[in-house]
Amino acid sequence: MAEIHFHNGEQLPLELHKVRIVQKLDLQPVERRAEAISEAGFNTFLLFNKDIFLDMLTDSGVNAMSDRQLASMMIADDSYAGSATFTRLTEKLKEIFGTEYFLPSHQGRAAENIIAMTFVRPGSIIPMNYHFTTTKAHITRLGGIVEELLVDEGVKIESNYPFKGNFDLDKLERLLAEKHDIIPFIRIEAGTNLIGGQPLSLENIEKSADIAHRYGVLTVLDASLLQDNLYFIKTREEYAKDLSLREITRRISEKMDIIYFSGRKLGFARGGGISIHSKELYLRMRELVPMFEGFLTYGGMSVREMEAMTVGLDETMDMDVISQGPLFIKYMTDELIRNNVPVVTPPGGLGCHLDASRFIPHVRQEEYPAGALAAAVYIAGGIRGMERGTISEQREPDGSEHLAAVELLRLAMPRRVFTLSQVKYAIDRITWLYENRNLIGGLRFVEEPSSLRFFFGRLEPVSPWPEKLIAAFRRDFGDSL
Ligand code: F0G
Repeated sequence: MAEIHFHNGEQLPLELHKVRIVQKLDLQPVERRAEAISEAGFNTFLLFNKDIFLDMLTDSGVNAMSDRQLASMMIADDSYAGSATFTRLTEKLKEIFGTEYFLPSHQGRAAENIIAMTFVRPGSIIPMNYHFTTTKAHITRLGGIVEELLVDEGVKIESNYPFKGNFDLDKLERLLAEKHDIIPFIRIEAGTNLIGGQPLSLENIEKSADIAHRYGVLTVLDASLLQDNLYFIKTREEYAKDLSLREITRRISEKMDIIYFSGRKLGFARGGGISIHSKELYLRMRELVPMFEGFLTYGGMSVREMEAMTVGLDETMDMDVISQGPLFIKYMTDELIRNNVPVVTPPGGLGCHLDASRFIPHVRQEEYPAGALAAAVYIAGGIRGMERGTISEQREPDGSEHLAAVELLRLAMPRRVFTLSQVKYAIDRITWLYENRNLIGGLRFVEEPSSLRFFFGRLEPVSPWPEKLIAAFRRDFGDSL
């Protein structure tokens, strides 16, 4: 994406790629959309693609691949053991991170499982800037405790703090001084997911790692969203302004003992894995790969995806490639702000995040504002987002509700997938919905799984608010879809 100045003064992100394969989309009428979300138990995870126009659920495994990635898939080596594809991927990771060893896994959470099973014991404390759903589930399943040590600014919805994903270094120091003997590692999520794709600064990453190492504690980087974080370090951080993307990546990886990632995000393919500097740590985790994932040279991944990931990792070191997501997200966020719609600022990576607490302040947190807003945005525009609020939390051990620190609706921006006119459509429908926000009501569970309930839980509206929304839509848009 280029910083091209338009003669007419407009500030638009300009694509430095062209589209060569397309997929037809359907836009269902509003009545069908309301029916579909009801069939899906008011949970956007349970919608089917035929009913979705703009799928902004996630950027996971749904980014557009490049011509070079597709071409690379043709040379994939299918050997069960000793595949040349594995060697190419390992070499690319070595080139980028400087790591000697690589353990493949079928996706990011499988890497989390391996790391958690190796290091977490009942009572272990795992400090992190912020948790991710699957990470926390793996750690707590084994009796570990997650301690979030984010800077206070991190959960402020409106802010101009450039690195809201940063660790509070004083809190980290204090916790490690007191409890380092029950802390096997600290986990650094760069960039963060659940607080709106917000990055950490290079300086904060380095300092956090230094503190951990001073107490003999390992450092683990979740690099799933590293591409966005690199973009923000490069564009926002004075300390890093003279470093190339490759140099920044090396500076980070030199401070890490273990780097894991979801290849569905980092690398624009589908898979994951763990990159490790030391042989000792590699050997401690190695046997879990054939037991849970697949043989050591594919780890449950398709070799074609591994080839695409190798090229995708290479392309991640190109500012023209990694800037597309953040610049589209900034465009969408800035336009929504102009229309007074409450959003998370500054714009981060991953997606544009609507602040459900201020969008529909009349819906109590116990009635899941972020989930209700997800359903309403889908009804209003066929746009599928993801609830990132209380529904995404786990209940406390005593069964009480754990109210989320923030109630967000994430509208992910899969890279190079949507056009600017599609983004403008989303802005238009969300703005309309904001003007009609009083019609939106809350939700309650009718089926609630005990873990990761946001995936399969089914809910219903607490009042017949979806019908009112359809009537308002017809009043304002006539016969339009
Ligand atoms: N860590 C982070 C920061 C993630 O965002 C994800 C996935 C994972 C780990 C797990 O990786 O999906 O390959 O198993 N995030 C997806 C999302 C699910 O939609 O944000 P995975």
